[in-house]
Amino acid sequence: MRSHYCGVVDESLLNQEVALCGWVNRRRDHGGVIFVDLRDREGLVQVVFDPDDQEVFALAEQIRNEFVLRIKGRVRYRPQGTVNPDLKTGKVEVLGLELEVLNTSETPPFQLDEEDVHEDNRLRYRYIDLRRSGMQSRLQTRALVTRTLREFLDKNGFLDIETPMLTKATPEGARDYLVPSRNHPGAFYALPQSPQLFKQLLMMSGLDRYYQIVRCFRDEDLRADRQPEFTQLDIETSFMDEDAIMQLMEAMMRNLFKTVLDVDLPDPFPRMPYAEAMERFGSDKPDLRISLELVDITSLMKTVEFKVFSGPANDPQGRVVALRLPGGNTLSRKEIDDYTSYVSNYGAKGLAYVKCNDVAAGREGLQSPILKFLPDEVITAIMEKTQAQSGDMVFFGADKARIVNESLGALRVKLGCDRGLLEPGWRPLWIVDFPMFEWDPREHRWSALHHPFTSPAVDGTEALEKDPGGVLSRAYDMALNGVELGGGSLRIHKTETQQAVFKLLGIDEQEAQRKFGFLLKALCYGCPPHGGIAFGLDRLVMLMTASPSIRDVMAFPKTQTASCPLTNAPAAVSEDQLRELNIKIRRKVQ
Ligand code: AMO
Ligand code: AMP
Repeated sequence: MRSHYCGVVDESLLNQEVALCGWVNRRRDHGGVIFVDLRDREGLVQVVFDPDDQEVFALAEQIRNEFVLRIKGRVRYRPQGTVNPDLKTGKVEVLGLELEVLNTSETPPFQLDEEDVHEDNRLRYRYIDLRRSGMQSRLQTRALVTRTLREFLDKNGFLDIETPMLTKATPEGARDYLVPSRNHPGAFYALPQSPQLFKQLLMMSGLDRYYQIVRCFRDEDLRADRQPEFTQLDIETSFMDEDAIMQLMEAMMRNLFKTVLDVDLPDPFPRMPYAEAMERFGSDKPDLRISLELVDITSLMKTVEFKVFSGPANDPQGRVVALRLPGGNTLSRKEIDDYTSYVSNYGAKGLAYVKCNDVAAGREGLQSPILKFLPDEVITAIMEKTQAQSGDMVFFGADKARIVNESLGALRVKLGCDRGLLEPGWRPLWIVDFPMFEWDPREHRWSALHHPFTSPAVDGTEALEKDPGGVLSRAYDMALNGVELGGGSLRIHKTETQQAVFKLLGIDEQEAQRKFGFLLKALCYGCPPHGGIAFGLDRLVMLMTASPSIRDVMAFPKTQTASCPLTNAPAAVSEDQLRELNIKIRRKVQ
């Protein structure tokens, strides 16, 4: 039907006859001549219909936007002055000789070049939205990304192996999507939050190196970089330690960025202990493109009379930090109020600040509602620790460490973006030396910082039981420009250790058997040391295409409320279906 894609027609085809298929992007009538921008996956080309050819011209007059055409025509230079330098095909046009309307189209619900179309509408008519060049090119990049990753992993001896979708819950920290079983009334499959346990079983099976580009399902609160179903590049290997795994994964990322974006990522990637990342950036995925840092002033605040600061400073779980914004003393009252309400989204109760007008003048050169609560030596120490200069602003956060880290960590990034302090480029980073467990004050128990199959960085179970809070894990996360791209670890491969970890997590033996009995059993039959990692593929493509949302790199994403406006999923099902599944739904009586 066609000889070329529309988007590739250029001077090299001058005077040749081409057959093109595509959609009408726009029709323009100009002084008796009809111009049609014909569009396909690869781009646009201008087709001209001349009135001298009456039959074809009469047909061309009937075509409208989004009609599907097949044309035959001859490639020629555009007349002088009408060259379009923005188009790949902009020097030429195709003189239409034959025209066939393959299909008509109703007026589309929005124009393809229309900006600010409501996202619900974009998703409802996704098949039209996907015709936009931005969406097409992002999906093409995504395909190139998966192809490049596969090639790298294939070359390195990894086998692509599928794992079940109808399975049993794996704890990755989110709620499960459940699927009722018809054969086993009252029983449910869980859709996998990740293939974690299956990939470990594959190592126990001796397959040595596994990968899969796989869908994962998590019923959690959605955000710009989270979807209920998303794709992981999931990897597991035997007989490699964390250094070897990290080196190989870096090499994979360097190869990917070089191939797709012609970008050289650093070799090696820097590594930072978790504790340092939290201390300096308040985040375990710090955006290193922003040089602002949190400065810990907890010890300075223990004896001040200002309770807002001394309270958290004397709380073992508390923290007080300062965040210096160079050149920030020009911020208006309103801007400060806006930042205060921004940090309150993260639980902060306020945002104290000091405007540094003239640091040489001491207290007199500073301006702040909290100065009166702080003695001279504390003010001097803050100025020294933060290295504040005249013209700067220093913000403060005081609360439980978790709240301070989250709120001022987020403020750091927001200030960086708002104030043009974001250095261009790519700053990958490994976060290492994670604590094994985190104390959950609400549930009064330890929880796993990664997942319960992560190996502790200590031998034996004694240290684990003695000081769970002090034990580090053999986990590693890869962050890129402030986004957690992936995470993984060396796994527990000894039954005793796995049992000890379950116990610490408050999973008693019975529950462990019920939930993970198959894993505990498998560990008894010659389990090799193994480890792996999973990357969020959607997030990776989102970063690589500079997209603001993960939804922009997925063909058919869900809305923020996990629904699909295109198909109207999730939807009610028939009584018959429910009866077959033995499910009774109590409907509210109206
Ligand atoms: P984890 O839970 O950290 O690890 O997930 C790995 C990566 O998957 C991405 N990701 C998501 N992307 C989009 N939407 C979501 N809802 C979502 N949740 C996670 C992130 C994250 O870094 N089995 C372990 C990996 C391992 O230990 O090997 C796991 O799933 O980019
Ligand atoms: P107040 O005494 O409550 O008026 O607070 C004085 C200043 O401290 C105001 O600028 C508040 O925004 C700020 N503030 C209050 N609570 C906190 C907190 N937990 N962390 C940082 N600043 C705070």
